[in-house]
Amino acid sequence: MKVLVINGPNLNMLGVREPDIYGKGTLEELEGMLREHARKKGVMCDFYQSNHEGAIVEKIQQALGVYDGIIINPAAYTHTSIAILDALKAVGLPTVEVHLSDIASRESFRQHSYISPVCVKTITGKHFQGYLEALDVLVDKLG
Ligand code: DQA
Repeated sequence: MKVLVINGPNLNMLGVREPDIYGKGTLEELEGMLREHARKKGVMCDFYQSNHEGAIVEKIQQALGVYDGIIINPAAYTHTSIAILDALKAVGLPTVEVHLSDIASRESFRQHSYISPVCVKTITGKHFQGYLEALDVLVDKLG
């Protein structure tokens, strides 16, 4: 089983960026934790981070036929991107949406996600743990 983990804009700044909201861990640490969790479950994980909407769309398109599932935190594009929604619909791969923070209890503009309707599950407010749970959800679904 192969899973693609996509992180959107500004998540390369984890550890520096608003640590009171997003925590002190870096993206590298998150990817290391997730890789280890996946290894224990016999899952292969690849990681991709981009600050560009079109690059994320292309990465989702390229996942077809290569990966069995996607874990995605589209970051700010969650609340704006019909293009990312359409890419996920186009490939039809089982996808879990993750947010480090609890977007439902933040500003009103963060409370709508374009991609939630096409995701198997949305996990919010569990910081790095949310990504590990997302992997478990995909393993249960695909297993
Ligand atoms: C985020 C929440 C988004 O609203 C925000 O724009 C992010 C990160 C999260 O992981 O909590 O960049 O997706």
